[in-house]
Amino acid sequence: MSSSDEHTPVLLNEVLSGLKPETCGRAIDATFGRGGHSRALLAALPASARLLVIDRDPAAVAVAQKLAESDSRVVVAAGEFSRLREFAADADLLPVDAILMDTGVSSPQIDEPERGFSFRFDAPLDMRMDTTQGMTAAQWLNTAEAGEMAKAFRELGDERFSGRIAAAIVAARPLQTTGQLVDVINAAQPKPDPHKHSATRVFQACRMVVNNEVSELAQGLQAAYDSLAPGGRLAVISFHSGDDRQVKRAFRALCRAAESPRRLPVRNAPPAPAKLIGRAVKAGDAETRANPRARSAVLRILERVA
Ligand SMILES: C[S@@+](CC[C@H](N)C(=O)[O-])C[C@H]1O[C@@H](n2cnc3c(N)ncnc32)[C@H](O)[C@@H]1O
Repeated sequence: MSSSDEHTPVLLNEVLSGLKPETCGRAIDATFGRGGHSRALLAALPASARLLVIDRDPAAVAVAQKLAESDSRVVVAAGEFSRLREFAADADLLPVDAILMDTGVSSPQIDEPERGFSFRFDAPLDMRMDTTQGMTAAQWLNTAEAGEMAKAFRELGDERFSGRIAAAIVAARPLQTTGQLVDVINAAQPKPDPHKHSATRVFQACRMVVNNEVSELAQGLQAAYDSLAPGGRLAVISFHSGDDRQVKRAFRALCRAAESPRRLPVRNAPPAPAKLIGRAVKAGDAETRANPRARSAVLRILERVA
């Protein structure tokens, strides 16, 4: 792997101590990336275990296929993690003992200019994780209504000047490159944020729209829970507050014991279908110093009860 093709796995020790791969027969890495977590899981999984690895990025799948050639425990599926249960059934892997979802983008995706994820390089506005299908960021930005864009920038990017930026994009169309988008954002923002690059929030929102990330995460979490064996664990790492909020709410809903319609406890109710394992975990100082991308990572772990 070249240095631009590497990804340092975040919260690795915490994932391993939470998922306990040494006790697992069947495991899934739903976001293979460059396989940092997968390799560590494989080092701990028993010789008879199997690991299904999933990614929708063809570059990640190519690395996964190489790993499968050198380790017969690995099965590869190319596609979205919303289809996790279907992939697991096809691989005869249900029910599963441990599942990892390390959401968001990988370092190679951000660091390869031609992918168009980063405002640090001038490149075509692509931003698709799966480069073989779907709408590019340019296609969305050049066709969406101003109101739809403003809503996405506000809700997915926490952008204060969402309306002004959306109107400026409409006026500047067609946009083809990340550089053009950065220029439009800079010109439309009256007050630059001293702590963040002016384009961070809009780029994040575009990426989330192009890759359908909100609905992928909702469906992926449900598919993962549905695939777990009783006692099986799901570990999810998210990288921004919106994703973490979504994970927290989904986990809470799965852990809620049966309630009456007025949300009163039901007598003799069956146990809650899942329980939380510990609290949300963040990277320590040593990890964030060594890998600044770990700074915003939050890990949550859920165990299926019944
Ligand atoms: C943060 S990286 C994972 C890095 C990996 N844990 C490692 O150690 O190399 C996230 C990966 O998940 C993939 N991904 C994100 N959302 C996905 C989805 N909905 N379905 C499938 N893959 C997805 C991305 O393409 C990317 O390769």
